[in-house]
Amino acid sequence: MSSTPSLEELPPIAQPDDELQYFETHAPPANIAQLSLEVRDFIAHHHAAHRRVVLVSSGGTTVPLENQTVRFIDNFSAGTRGATSAEYFLEAGYAVVFLHRQFSLLPYSRHYSHSTNCFLDYLSEWGRIGEGEDAAEGGDVVVKQKYRQQMLDVLRKYRRAKENKTLLLLPYTTVTSYLFLLREVAMRMQVLGSEGLFYLAAAVSDFFVPPDRMAEHKIQSGDIPGAAGEDNHAAAAVAPGPRGKKLVIDLDPVPKFLNRLVEGWAPNAMIISFKLETDSAILLYKCRQALERYNHQLVIGNLLSTRKFEVVFVDNKKNENWIRVPEAKEGEEQLEIESLIVPEVVRRHNQSIGGASIHRF
Ligand code: PMT
Repeated sequence: MSSTPSLEELPPIAQPDDELQYFETHAPPANIAQLSLEVRDFIAHHHAAHRRVVLVSSGGTTVPLENQTVRFIDNFSAGTRGATSAEYFLEAGYAVVFLHRQFSLLPYSRHYSHSTNCFLDYLSEWGRIGEGEDAAEGGDVVVKQKYRQQMLDVLRKYRRAKENKTLLLLPYTTVTSYLFLLREVAMRMQVLGSEGLFYLAAAVSDFFVPPDRMAEHKIQSGDIPGAAGEDNHAAAAVAPGPRGKKLVIDLDPVPKFLNRLVEGWAPNAMIISFKLETDSAILLYKCRQALERYNHQLVIGNLLSTRKFEVVFVDNKKNENWIRVPEAKEGEEQLEIESLIVPEVVRRHNQSIGGASIHRF
């Protein structure tokens, strides 16, 4: 079993002063004012319609190594959990603020993206005759027969979300832009009180390069003759190594802002965080530890290798409930685990606000 740090050994949780310091010393995303207005209008619209709003965070944050960024640290998350969950929240009658890593998976289009599901494989050309240079052009692109029903279902749901304006897409890339946007949306969601829900599925970087130690330009692997030798390697040092120069990176911990979300930014909302581990022996311990540290309502634990098949709900009353997808029978499609997670989350959200019903279209 791995040794797990006790509460006292963990990095301290962020206090109001840490928040002030962090947000004053980092530059916000360039378009934050515009995005903030979009969020305000979105929330006002759905609040007036008595519709609940969930913020779904999705994908992984990056940590740039240079100000003019060529290199950055990333993580594995493609945004599957977030994009899939967002669809089920929309189906459950929620409006969704989808805070996602730019170019990661999006609700609905996720069914037809990336190399395994390239959208071109779903299409054929209507009326095309012959092959090669002699082929007569058909001219119309159509969906292959066997995919039509499934695609139509996805298309209808996508169109409904667009027409009803129930999905707001907010992209981030770096951990800093994620944190600025999370704070901004949380403040805007305060008007919703307990009807607001936070479903934090993003994989947020734990370590970063603080701005005062960030290289301005691309970190060089060799010396440049005649260059002034700008000291731009304060956090990432290029040092002699056994096989040439090596890069030594020195990262600071990202302040643990979940605490500020719970206490300051969204004090009345229901907050659900995810916990990812690779060692099954420490998953439950880490989930409980997160609840103890941040005092929110629910942690959903998952393991990297089984995250599509099982998760555990750990709540602040010390209950632990596993959700597992039943094995698909031959010829059947595997159920998406989010189709089980989200209804359970909605049930708990209902319960936490006294069983109020959801206004649907
Ligand atoms: O995208 P997929 O491939 O489907 O993968 C989904 C997932 C495995 C990434 C997802 O299910 C998941 O587990 N996400 C959380 C990963 C994690 O353990 O994050 P963390 O320990 O860094 O953070 C804990 C929680 O606090 C997370 O909910 C995170 O979104 C949130 N957090 C953390 C730090 C911070 N500064 N702000 C946050 O909001």
